[in-house]
Amino acid sequence: MGKKARAIVDLSLKELVRDLNKAYCDEWLAFYLYWYMAQTVSGKFYNGMKEALESIAKDELEHAAELADMITKMGDVPTANPMDLEKNANNSYTLPPKNSADINRIIRVVTEAEGDAIETYQKLAKKTQGKDYNTHRLILHILSEEIDHEERFENLLER
Ligand SMILES: [Fe+2]
Ligand SMILES: [Fe+2]
Repeated sequence: MGKKARAIVDLSLKELVRDLNKAYCDEWLAFYLYWYMAQTVSGKFYNGMKEALESIAKDELEHAAELADMITKMGDVPTANPMDLEKNANNSYTLPPKNSADINRIIRVVTEAEGDAIETYQKLAKKTQGKDYNTHRLILHILSEEIDHEERFENLLER
C-alpha cells in the first residue's frame, strides 16, 4: 500500500492487521480440520462427504491466501509459526469426531465452524464499512462464501 492508500484508511492499520491475522489463523484451522476429515471420513456417505469437505477446505485455503496477501500489502506478515495458529485465532480448534463415519457429527462440526466464521466476517464487514473499501470488498467476498458453506452443510443434514 502506498502513502495515499494508507492515508484514506479510516481505521487503525495496526488493529486491522491484527483482525485480519486472526481471521487468517481461523482459516488455516478450518482448512486443516476439513481437509483432515476429508481424508479420514468413512462409512456409507464416504464419497459425497469426502468431496464436499475437500471442496470447502480448498475455499478456506484460498481465504487464508487472500488474507495473507492483504496483510502483506499492509506492510505486515501473517502468523509464521504453525504452532501459533490456534493461539492467534479467534476460535479454538475443534477436534474432528472420533467416529469417522459419524456424518451428522461431522456436519455439525462444519456448520458450527461456519457459523463462527460468519460472525467474524460480519463484524469485520461492519468495522470496515465506509472506512476501508478495499478490505471491505475482500471481507464481503469471504463472508458470502462462508454463508454458502453453512447452507451447503446444513442441507446435507436434512437428508
Ligand atoms: Fe473461510
Ligand atoms: Fe467456510
